[in-house]
Amino acid sequence: MPEPSVAEGPMPETPMPGPLRELTTLRLGGPPRRLVVATSEAELVAAVTEMDAVDEPVLVLGGGSNLVVSDDGFDGTVVAVRTRGISACPDTDVPTCGGVTLTVAAGEPWDDVVAMAVQRTWTGVEALSGIPGSTGAVPIQNVGAYGQEVSQTIASVRTWDRRTATQQTFANADCGFGYRDSRFKAEPGRWVVLEVTFQLLVGELSAPVGYAELARTLGVRIGERAPLADVREAVLELRRGKGMVLDDADHDTWSAGSFFTNPVLDAEAAARLPGDAPRWEQPDGSVKTSAAWLIDRAGFAKGHTHGRVALSGKHTLALTNRGGASTDELLALAREIRESVRERYGVSLVNEPVTVGCSL
Ligand code: EPU
Repeated sequence: MPEPSVAEGPMPETPMPGPLRELTTLRLGGPPRRLVVATSEAELVAAVTEMDAVDEPVLVLGGGSNLVVSDDGFDGTVVAVRTRGISACPDTDVPTCGGVTLTVAAGEPWDDVVAMAVQRTWTGVEALSGIPGSTGAVPIQNVGAYGQEVSQTIASVRTWDRRTATQQTFANADCGFGYRDSRFKAEPGRWVVLEVTFQLLVGELSAPVGYAELARTLGVRIGERAPLADVREAVLELRRGKGMVLDDADHDTWSAGSFFTNPVLDAEAAARLPGDAPRWEQPDGSVKTSAAWLIDRAGFAKGHTHGRVALSGKHTLALTNRGGASTDELLALAREIRESVRERYGVSLVNEPVTVGCSL
C-alpha cells in the first residue's frame, strides 16, 4: 500500500481528516480541509501562526463539547489542542495554609483537573465536576454550574493573540468575565488559550454551597460547606440525572450541554413572564429566568423528538443526536423552539454552543 501523502509542515497532520463528527460530543459535522494535532505549545502556536500568515481559516478545537459544526464541515484547518501539563505551587501533599496556584495546559481534560483538585483537597472547582471539554475552553465562556463559575478561581489566562502574533496574559479582572461570557468570547477566534492559572484554597471542605438543588442533595443549607469528595459525587449524580455526563452508550448525552443560555431580562420584560416562571434576581436589578422552563412551557417536553434529533429525555435544554442525525436537522429543531418561545413569551433564546459554518 502506498504511503499516504502528508502536506509539508512540521506539525503532525492527518492525511485525510475524518469528519468533525468524530471530534464533537454532538457527533455532528462534516470534514475539515486539514487537521493538525498540536501536542505541544510550540506546535500549537506554530500551526496557528503558519495558517494566519497565509490567511487560511483556522478552527481551534478543544474537547469539541460546545460546537455545532455544519454538515459541510470546515473549509480550513482545524488545529486540535492536545497540549498537556499541570503544575502546582507549592507542590506538596502536606496541607499548607493559604492556597495553591495551579497552572494547567489548555489541552488538559477539564474533569481530570477537577478530580485532581478534589483528591488533593484543593477547593473552588468541585461543583464544576463532570463538565466535558478541555481546560483551555473554560475561560472562554466562563464555564459554570451548581453555584460555581471558573471566574471565581481563575488567577490568569495566558493566550496567543492572533491579531498581533504575540503572547498576552490576562489577570482575572481583565478577562471581562460575565454569565457564560468573557473578552475571549467577545472577539471570536482572536485569542488562543495556551494555559490557565487557578488560585485554589486548601481544605477538606468545599467552598460554600451556592445552589439550592445541590444543597438539598447534600443535606446542607445554602452557604454551608460539605466534604469535597461528597460535593463532587453529588454533582456527578445530579448531572447524570440530567443527561449531562457523557456516555457513549446513551443518546441522551450526545449533546453540547445546554443549547441555549438562560435569558437575562430587564425588570419590565421579567414582569411579563407568567407568575410561576423561575426567577433569579441579579445584583444589577435584572432577572435571570430558565430557558429549560420556557422551552417546556412552549410545548417542547423532555424527549420531544423530531426525526433523528430530540430534546434530552432528562432535560429540555439539551438538544441531542439520536444517532445518524445531521446538523441541519438539529438547527431546524433549535429554530422551531426559539420561534415558539419568542411567540409565546416574547423572549429570544440565544444559543450557547459555538456554531461553525452555520448559524441559528
Ligand atoms: N427546568 C425545566 N425543565 C427541564 C429542566 C429544568 O423546566 O427539563 C427548569 C426548572 O425550573 C429548574 C430550572 O429549569 O429549576 C433550572 O434547571 P437546572 O438546575 O437544570 O439548570 P439550568 O439553568 O437549566 C444551568 C446551566 C448548566 C448547569 C446547570 C446547573 C446554563 C445555560 N446552563 O442549567 O450548564 O449544569 O445550570 O448549574 O446556564 C451548560 O452550560 O452546558 C450546562 C449544562
